[in-house]
Amino acid sequence: MLILGLNTFHADTAAVLVDGDTGKLIAAIAEERLNRVKHFAGFPDMAIRECLRIAGATPADVTHVAVARDSKANLVSKLGFSLRNIVNITKMAKQRLENRAALAHLPELVQQAFARAGGTNESVHYHHIEHHLAHLASAFLVSDFQEAALCSIDGFGDFASTMTGMGKGTKIEILDRTLFPHSLGVLYTSACQFIAYNKYGDEGKIMGLAPYGKENFRHFFDQIISLEPEGRFKLNLQAFIHHTEGVDYHFDERGYPHVAPMFNAKFWTERLGPVRDPKEPLSQRDMDIARSLQACLERAYMHILNHLYNQTKTPNLCLAGGVALNSVANGLALEQTPFKHIYVQPAAGDDGTAVGAAYYVYHNVLNKPRNFRMIHAYTGSSFNDAEIKSALDARGLTSENLDDATLYDRTAECIAEGLVVGWFQGQMEWGPRALGNRSIVAHPGHPKMKDILNARIKHREWFRPFAPSILTERLNDYFESTHPSPFMLMVYNTKPEKREELQAVNHVDNTGRVQTVSREENPRYYDLIKAFERRTGTPVVLNTSFNENEPVVNTPAEAIDCFLRTKMDILVLGNHFCRRPNV
Ligand SMILES: [Fe+2]
Repeated sequence: MLILGLNTFHADTAAVLVDGDTGKLIAAIAEERLNRVKHFAGFPDMAIRECLRIAGATPADVTHVAVARDSKANLVSKLGFSLRNIVNITKMAKQRLENRAALAHLPELVQQAFARAGGTNESVHYHHIEHHLAHLASAFLVSDFQEAALCSIDGFGDFASTMTGMGKGTKIEILDRTLFPHSLGVLYTSACQFIAYNKYGDEGKIMGLAPYGKENFRHFFDQIISLEPEGRFKLNLQAFIHHTEGVDYHFDERGYPHVAPMFNAKFWTERLGPVRDPKEPLSQRDMDIARSLQACLERAYMHILNHLYNQTKTPNLCLAGGVALNSVANGLALEQTPFKHIYVQPAAGDDGTAVGAAYYVYHNVLNKPRNFRMIHAYTGSSFNDAEIKSALDARGLTSENLDDATLYDRTAECIAEGLVVGWFQGQMEWGPRALGNRSIVAHPGHPKMKDILNARIKHREWFRPFAPSILTERLNDYFESTHPSPFMLMVYNTKPEKREELQAVNHVDNTGRVQTVSREENPRYYDLIKAFERRTGTPVVLNTSFNENEPVVNTPAEAIDCFLRTKMDILVLGNHFCRRPNV
């Protein structure tokens, strides 16, 4: 008996398989890693088939399909709002019909994926779980906590932008919802669009830009959002157009998602000056907007969380939703709220709702007890030695097949020398971050490493920081926190005496987006960092995702192609160690 969880017709479409007898998460994969379209927003056809392949299962084994979407959720509010407010009702109605049509075809699409996997299953049961309930479930039901406060914040899903709740055992009690058109996600995305960061997922870049600015536009942001009693907030709708024009969210022929501008250009330009021309370099004004935006988000986030604490009085907090990818705000929650323990599931964005929907069905439809904790994110495809060797041979790359101890030591030596290493091991990560299985690894204290990586491999914006992976037990020696961050979703202050030692991963505001690594979570990555520590005294490596302006590599062939295309020095695939010919 298997439960197939789906996030579909949303960005970051994904499939997961949960064992309906044991509750074990068998596989979880975002479609973008397989079809190579970043943030793919169509149907996760390939991910369904890959999950079945990993499970060694056939479509006949799937008994339940859990979809993280419920078009009936909040329907009364939705219809009421439409009648009262929508100016461009034709456009909104068209979008809604398109959504419903896509969902109506879901069983057909699932059957097509099953057929391509070599089987059929007409007797499968479908369950639709409200988007934010799936977000809450995605964090709580796989966390360590038997009791926790729950919070999900994003742009929109099923007409809501925020949901808070209380989790106890297998049950989730919803405490509050914020409905369309009020949304912190819309506010954040709008400001990103105003400074011409309008690609899907650009919000994380602006979080990295913020420390270069000053909070000179606090007054503006105070004008467009108000914090209300009971942990609520309201947008000043004069500053936005999504409530009159509809959220023009669509995906193109490749399945890449686009969101049309949501800000009222007249309102913003009168107060902030012209919309940034993307051809022009970022100005101090743009950086000040980024800083003011981030500060505004943090105030609203803490306002919601502090109220949630007052309602629940538990030290445990689970966070989900696109806004929970804001690792700076997450880190702040440990300082500015009474919560002591925070769990953010690695796929905090919409991909993660596939996990939430599946576990919601497992616990609340099948009424099974809690028995699974997601302590690592390695739930995707993996490749055996023969497959790796065959990919190397196909591209004429020679490698040495080293034993584990030699591999860690040799790789650590290369990192210590300032070489850039492509590190490919085991199962692909779940969620947006590379966490040591599909990572590029480098020296965290090399003064030029950030420039080297940007010039030679990543070609990213100059202001975006690289992240540190640190041995969990050494966290507090380097950062002002003792709270683990296994999924790189917390930002902590770097201790003053360690800033130089970590200069390639220390952001301009002396912080790091930390990944803590324990041996239990990832023994091979842990042993590599340990080998680097033995050699240099530093229990930290720089970790960035193994890719070049594309989804993170999944297969050995993609890793080799990226290695050959860029100027990485070393490639490690499993136990195969390859040097670039002239290094
Ligand atoms: Fe969401």
